[in-house]
Amino acid sequence: MFKFWGDVFGYPAAYFETLAKRDPWFESQNILALSSDGRPISALQIFPKLVRVGNCSVMAGGIGNLATLPECRRRGHATKLLEKAIQIMRGRGYVLSILFTGIPHFYRRLKWEMASPEYEYLISARKLSEGGKDIPSTFWPRIFRTEDSASIMQAYDCTNRGRTLSVVRSRECWQRQLDYNLSEDLSGFIVIQMHQTTLAYARCTKSQGRLEVIEAGYRPNSPDARPACKALLTCLGERALEMNLKEVSVNVPPDHILTGQLIDRGAIDISRMRGNSMIRIIDLSGLIKKILPDLKTRISDAHFSKRLTIRTEEEHVSLQIKDGEIRVMDPREGGDRYETGHRVLAQHLTGYVSPKEAFQRGLVRAEPSIVKIVDSLFRTVLPSYVWKSDRF
Ligand SMILES: CC(C)(COP(=O)(O)OP(=O)(O)OC[C@H]1O[C@@H](n2cnc3c(N)ncnc32)[C@H](O)[C@@H]1OP(=O)(O)O)[C@@H](O)C(=O)NCCC(=O)NCCS
Repeated sequence: MFKFWGDVFGYPAAYFETLAKRDPWFESQNILALSSDGRPISALQIFPKLVRVGNCSVMAGGIGNLATLPECRRRGHATKLLEKAIQIMRGRGYVLSILFTGIPHFYRRLKWEMASPEYEYLISARKLSEGGKDIPSTFWPRIFRTEDSASIMQAYDCTNRGRTLSVVRSRECWQRQLDYNLSEDLSGFIVIQMHQTTLAYARCTKSQGRLEVIEAGYRPNSPDARPACKALLTCLGERALEMNLKEVSVNVPPDHILTGQLIDRGAIDISRMRGNSMIRIIDLSGLIKKILPDLKTRISDAHFSKRLTIRTEEEHVSLQIKDGEIRVMDPREGGDRYETGHRVLAQHLTGYVSPKEAFQRGLVRAEPSIVKIVDSLFRTVLPSYVWKSDRF
């Protein structure tokens, strides 16, 4: 299979083999393929991920490496494999699917939708290296060491608590990623430690002639986070110059402390200019059941009392809301309806399009009082985000 993907995507087969080794969940049963005369003609891979939806976690199936041999295209092979993947993911109890693509219209037909912007900031390495010189040397960054692992994990969790679509990383998942990095080059993993606590860190690669930050974490509640992040940015600028790279691109969501600091130093926001993260709801009522604790918190101070059914062209789920409690009802029990497209509902989940906004745009059929309740249920606090380091 690695050779098939290599041929279609124009990379060496070893590239796909390395990716597989790095993935802690890799299993050959996650590869779906169609063959003709004993050779693969179309294939995809499912990447199981435990991701956050608010403060809850759900299983999601990433879809990647979808490819059909050029001479076999436009015969419905890829569509067939995607339909099969949806069926398999549902059977396994996955409630969401995520993918990244440059051809979103292709996936829309099968109900994936853009639901999370890609945030990216670009700045010249020189400009970055010139700021932050006033930071005390106690904050000076160094390269990652194995003994930093536990505090890095904590900083990652602090940065992503409540962040929909961020991957929940077990110790094993981290260890596999670090083992992989240790066998490669760790100079792109920069940390700022103080008393064995990670104040800030960044993981970088060289990409398209730039130093690219694919993940960055910090301690949002620490008073030292601000100077530590300033020092981190200066160090990234210096590192890029040492590597003869003129620009640094930083992939971080807008609430991240680095975003404001980058803008202050003159970075430009190129967030929406490329890339498309799409999601699909695989099992609506399974999803709602998994995130009930979060939904309850969101309506806890609103005193709603209602029976309602959220309905899309694919699925529906009925809820009983009373005294701050929510119960998933037998679907026949009905109540007031909130009707929208399956793709729009996926956008509610990440906060990409809120129920109120969808209603104003004519994408919802419901009474305004019901829209208000659903708007509260899908209220998001942090922007959703999948770190580039977790992509497939
Ligand atoms: C994208 C790809 C996997 C589609 O494979 P396929 O087997 O031809 O797909 P299907 O036959 O199921 O395509 C169904 C529809 O998608 C459309 N389609 C196929 N390739 C497309 C493309 N590159 N861009 C836009 N639409 C495309 C076809 O027009 C077809 O529509 P129609 O049946 O209404 O005419 C194939 O073009 C490919 O391997 N591309 C290179 C690798 C790639 O880009 N993979 C996707 C990474 S996210």
